[in-house]
Amino acid sequence: MDKLVIEGGVKLKGEVVISGAKNSVLPILAATLLTDDACIIKSVPNLRDTNTMFKILRSLGKVVEYDGGVVTVTSGKSINYIADYKLVSTMRASICVLGPLLGRLKKAKVSLPGGCIIGDRPVDLHIKGIRALGADVHIESGYVVAGAKKLKGGHMYLGGVYGSSVLATDNVMMAAVLASGKTVIESAACEPEVADLAEFLIKMGAKIKGHGTPIIEIDGVKHLHGATHTIIPDRIEAGTMMLASLITDGDILVKNVCFRHLGALIDKLEESGAAIIKTDNSLRVRKRKQLRGVTITTLPYPGFETDMQAQMMSLMSVVPGTSLFTGRIYPDRFMHVAELRRMGAQIQREGPHAIVEGEKYLSGAPVMASDLRASACLVLAGLAARGKTSISRIYHLERGYENIEEKLQNLGARVWREKE
Ligand code: EPZ
Repeated sequence: MDKLVIEGGVKLKGEVVISGAKNSVLPILAATLLTDDACIIKSVPNLRDTNTMFKILRSLGKVVEYDGGVVTVTSGKSINYIADYKLVSTMRASICVLGPLLGRLKKAKVSLPGGCIIGDRPVDLHIKGIRALGADVHIESGYVVAGAKKLKGGHMYLGGVYGSSVLATDNVMMAAVLASGKTVIESAACEPEVADLAEFLIKMGAKIKGHGTPIIEIDGVKHLHGATHTIIPDRIEAGTMMLASLITDGDILVKNVCFRHLGALIDKLEESGAAIIKTDNSLRVRKRKQLRGVTITTLPYPGFETDMQAQMMSLMSVVPGTSLFTGRIYPDRFMHVAELRRMGAQIQREGPHAIVEGEKYLSGAPVMASDLRASACLVLAGLAARGKTSISRIYHLERGYENIEEKLQNLGARVWREKE
């Protein structure tokens, strides 16, 4: 296994181009199961997770070619309705093949995703939603088994104790597009990636309204055809690069971004003292004045992204003042705290809260990545720290950040890979 080594203290400057959104690509790739026609998806990042989804589609009978950021999905022999454990257990997002398999074949058997370090990842809302379309669903030997003679549109409320569910909304949408009649999803997830999936489904011939809002209406159709689609930019990669500029007191132009996908983060960074200048589809990010601590509560979109909480905690660890973090989506998503403490961060945990007292500096140390966004948080801390930081288990990082070493090196960072 490799580890990433960072010699901190360089002010990052220059330009970085953001890749396509991982959390948009994965459900859109799953949606290609809804047709035998060819689908062409552009701006697909080369990630561990996207390659896992290619393998899952191939195991289900699809032919998947990937070249230069473009994926072409066509049909091989018949589609298999079973997504097996060994692939699904490596990536929770694989659950999003449940909806299209059910929509297309009226049956699906998808392994329950493995556990997840960021917190409990139930699928009760996925099951509630597809049951509302008339499917029989039960759990059997670690699989979600679903079937229906026919699917009919239903009216459902899909909010859970932690708010709306991104992939449950995706799964219900992908089953409902081929159901007969109208489906209304209340408390649908509003994330840009859900809206991007809906846009792809509409290009395939689906009839969807309200995507990006809490009420999505779908009129089922008989057939969906192939389509070509370009994935939206990855707002979490963009946010991570924005923080890389601020934590190193740098000056970075982040290109290929969609401002309105970053509203909560931009608001908080400006409150803290950042200067964020918007031009075309780029953001120039640097400090306007000495940054100060802020209060962060993670909420469903358009609230502050849970996937940016760990990265923001790195920044607040080296900003004067006190910051309060509250996790309303994953209350235990604090695996990165222990590692930041090894670098000198002053963080106190209390249930879903973490209180950060900013320090003058962090010191480089050997640390361990525990999940995708925690590994990004440690990269940011390493860029700012005095001395050398080595981050082990960086396969977590490779799940969601395309060519991150190269992108950081081009901004002046002293970062390289070593064998563990
Ligand atoms: C998506 O996961 C993202 N993954 C996650 O990003 C992201 O953190 C999450 O949404 C929240 O924004 C992808 O899109 C591939 P949820 P998802 O269902 O859909 C609870 C990353 O780093 N819940 O929106 O699985 C759940 O426990 C990843 O890129 C239920 O209670 O998340 C959580 O508390 C990590 N019942 C809340 O809802 C359910 O049936 C939101 O989860 C489903 C979820």
